[in-house]
Amino acid sequence: MSDPVPTFSDLSDVYGSETEVAKARFQTLEKAFLERFGSKPELFARSPGRVNLIGEHIDYEGYACLPMALRQDTIVAIRKAGDQLVITNIKSSEYPDYTFSVDPSQKVDADNHAWANYYLAAYKGCFEYLESKGKAPPPAGLQVMVDGIVPLGSGLSSSAAITCSSAFATLAAHGLNAPQGDAATFTAKCEKYVGTESGGMDQAVSIMGKPNTAMLVEFNPVRATDVVLPAGATFVIANSLTVSSKQETGATRYNLRTVECRLAAIALAISLGQPKEEARKLQTLKDVEPLIQSRLSGPKSSISHAAAAAAEQYLQKEPYDQGQIEGLLGASLSSIFEGNKAAGKSIAAAPDVGGFRLQSRALHVFAEADRVLAFRDVCTGDAPGEHKLESLGCIMDESQASCRDLYHCSCAELEALIAVQKKAGALGSRLTGAGWGGCTVSLVREGAVEAFIRAVKDQYFKQCISEGKVAAANLDEVIFASRPASGGAILKLKSLT
Ligand code: GLA
Repeated sequence: MSDPVPTFSDLSDVYGSETEVAKARFQTLEKAFLERFGSKPELFARSPGRVNLIGEHIDYEGYACLPMALRQDTIVAIRKAGDQLVITNIKSSEYPDYTFSVDPSQKVDADNHAWANYYLAAYKGCFEYLESKGKAPPPAGLQVMVDGIVPLGSGLSSSAAITCSSAFATLAAHGLNAPQGDAATFTAKCEKYVGTESGGMDQAVSIMGKPNTAMLVEFNPVRATDVVLPAGATFVIANSLTVSSKQETGATRYNLRTVECRLAAIALAISLGQPKEEARKLQTLKDVEPLIQSRLSGPKSSISHAAAAAAEQYLQKEPYDQGQIEGLLGASLSSIFEGNKAAGKSIAAAPDVGGFRLQSRALHVFAEADRVLAFRDVCTGDAPGEHKLESLGCIMDESQASCRDLYHCSCAELEALIAVQKKAGALGSRLTGAGWGGCTVSLVREGAVEAFIRAVKDQYFKQCISEGKVAAANLDEVIFASRPASGGAILKLKSLT
């Protein structure tokens, strides 16, 4: 069993050299809480955003990915009081208060996107988890104030940061905790309550991230292993300033991809000889591996090549329409995705975006899964440093091409930003997170970072300033170098003064 979410009494255990800046933030939050609720919070919890270095859109297909935790995080201040859940935000003019009943079985209104839905989803998830362990306490009123600094809709997983920190705060307010692995699993499920079918990468790294190391995150069961990045590698994050909310655009983007992948898995399995009824139970493309394996005479390492060859052979290149797929699978899509509201919306919306593209989605997933392992192998291998950096850069560029051409999750702004970054000396540059906007991550040689950032500011962000998309004074928030930072924690602080 994994270790519990750590509890610290000193901010420096989490924030290291940035403790003073963090302290000022905690003091401001404590003061705002006191003003709003008339008492100080009993404790805090925090969880960070993340940047995914490689392995995009494959976690929900069961494949490993390789992210790192960021220093940008969400802090939740909490106190047990009253008989309702009162959810507030330190930025109260942007994020209004919400009040909910304490009933953990209430529904989250996913059709009406509200920021506090994330807290409610985490609250429900905690109780569901505790009930499954026979440890659920009687529900009690909670006063909550949230302070998040992970930019929203930017691909840096502000949603995992708020969901995980809310879950830890809720557990800790009841005097409870959970093993990190369990917390990663149940918080990943929480996002389904807000209407996103996301995989588990964001929550896993937000919870299990560590300073100075990226993490290989694997699933079933969820676990994370250190992957130390080569000396001289710096990852620069830049925000394209195009916002893409997974939750609001799910029907035609993120959730539709999860539907397409599952359909591709079922169609492939049927083509490989599995009886239709059995094949229809498959959930992910990884589930098709045993079938591919059984047909392979060569080494296991060639599975993904064999899988890609099968996708080329058995899935049509052109998009399918619903009737074609239902004929192929021998059942209606509504029966295959029964009970999955988000999938239902995507199925209804698919004709608006040209139908279901099964082949290209499967090709991306199989090759991207391989790239994650190749990236890990370069990091842990013994090639000279400079070779390592170049190889990692190439792998990142290949991932970007695949996201753009096969998975169709890039966009014009990301492409323009990436072109600027390659010209400015990035060894590799790609979108990170769900895509369709949000951030890029670029691999830059340590000594070249300053000049790189200057060039990108000049060639991409100057124009954004003149278009009013960002203020010149805020440029350091939209392009910055990042180091792997700590994962989530519960904070029972001795004193904040
Ligand atoms: C979002 C999801 C993750 C993952 C990425 C794409 O961030 O929350 O689970 O699927 O997109 O890699």
